[in-house]
Amino acid sequence: MSTTTHPTSADLFSVTRTDTPVADEQREAALASPKFGTVFTDHMARISYSNEDGWSRRRVEKYGPLLLDPATAVLHYGQEIFEGMKAYRHADGSVWTFRPRDNAARFARSARRLALPELSEADFLGAIEALVATDVVWVPSGEETSLYLRPFMYASETFLGVRPSLEAEFLVIASPVGPYFAGGVRPVAIWVDQKYHRAGAGGTGDAKCGGNYAASLLPQQEAYAKGFEQVCFLDASTNTQLEELGGMNVFVVHADGSVATPPISGSILEGVTRSSILRLLTDAGHEVSERQIPLTELREGLADGSVREVFACGTAAVMTPIGRMASDDFDLTVGDGEAGPVTTRIRAELTDIQYGRATDRHGWLHRLV
Ligand code: COI
Repeated sequence: MSTTTHPTSADLFSVTRTDTPVADEQREAALASPKFGTVFTDHMARISYSNEDGWSRRRVEKYGPLLLDPATAVLHYGQEIFEGMKAYRHADGSVWTFRPRDNAARFARSARRLALPELSEADFLGAIEALVATDVVWVPSGEETSLYLRPFMYASETFLGVRPSLEAEFLVIASPVGPYFAGGVRPVAIWVDQKYHRAGAGGTGDAKCGGNYAASLLPQQEAYAKGFEQVCFLDASTNTQLEELGGMNVFVVHADGSVATPPISGSILEGVTRSSILRLLTDAGHEVSERQIPLTELREGLADGSVREVFACGTAAVMTPIGRMASDDFDLTVGDGEAGPVTTRIRAELTDIQYGRATDRHGWLHRLV
């Protein structure tokens, strides 16, 4: 093993390279057809926290299992948060990420809500920079591929009392990925759930914490058994307004070109992709509103054709057209069931910026390598 130090925007991360990296041929095979979240790079970035020392021991080390005491707090009370980001390889070989300061800010908000220690923006960015520099050979270059980055933090104190942990671990792991949904970029079928909710007022719906995703799994499993790929949740107070898909925000495109998406109400996640799409739609001259979208309005619009397109968006899924929406009491095709022109055009604009094929006019890209 060789140990070097890698200066980053945060601090000095010590980099201890593994002496058993994945073999070149095996890595190339993984990069050629990456399947979402199945293969991981050779290293991980890590910073440890204790109440006495604050954040310390900034390091990049061999990717591998974590040794957890069975009484580690996160295993019992779910005190955990995460982020989703991507590193994109441009045609000249350079590697960039997208609006990382927004992810750092959201991570700090999630930490506050889950009573975890806040990590500075400099440490958040520094860990990403150090890891991607170390594992740069893992950034794929094929169409629609990227290196998915998963920063996360968990309560690591060995203690069963119900109070905020006095210790935490922050890690970043990375995985080469292609399209999120099996079958590539194509319209998906969505079950609008009128039985379960993922979040309620005053809860953790606007924090990116594992518990929100755990709450969405049974509804998703039930929807999957009926032939649907994802669930759209309604608000828990009235069970009438669209919220989000659990792992993605949702947008509705009308025949007159106006576009609506549910507002940041406290119970949905404030997506970085969501905010970028709002900007690109506004730039393109669409009338855009962040407002309540009653399910009744959506149903009527789909039935009479005044709603032309619906799409989901997130870092992992980018923009995914929705071709069908159904529930216990309706089953409707969205437009002609194919990806609509607004979804297709804005998706192309967004990915052109991310992959360096279009001018980054909003200053969203951040160079990593
Ligand atoms: C993302 O879009 O990056 C997410 O975090 C959503 C999901 C994969 C958990």
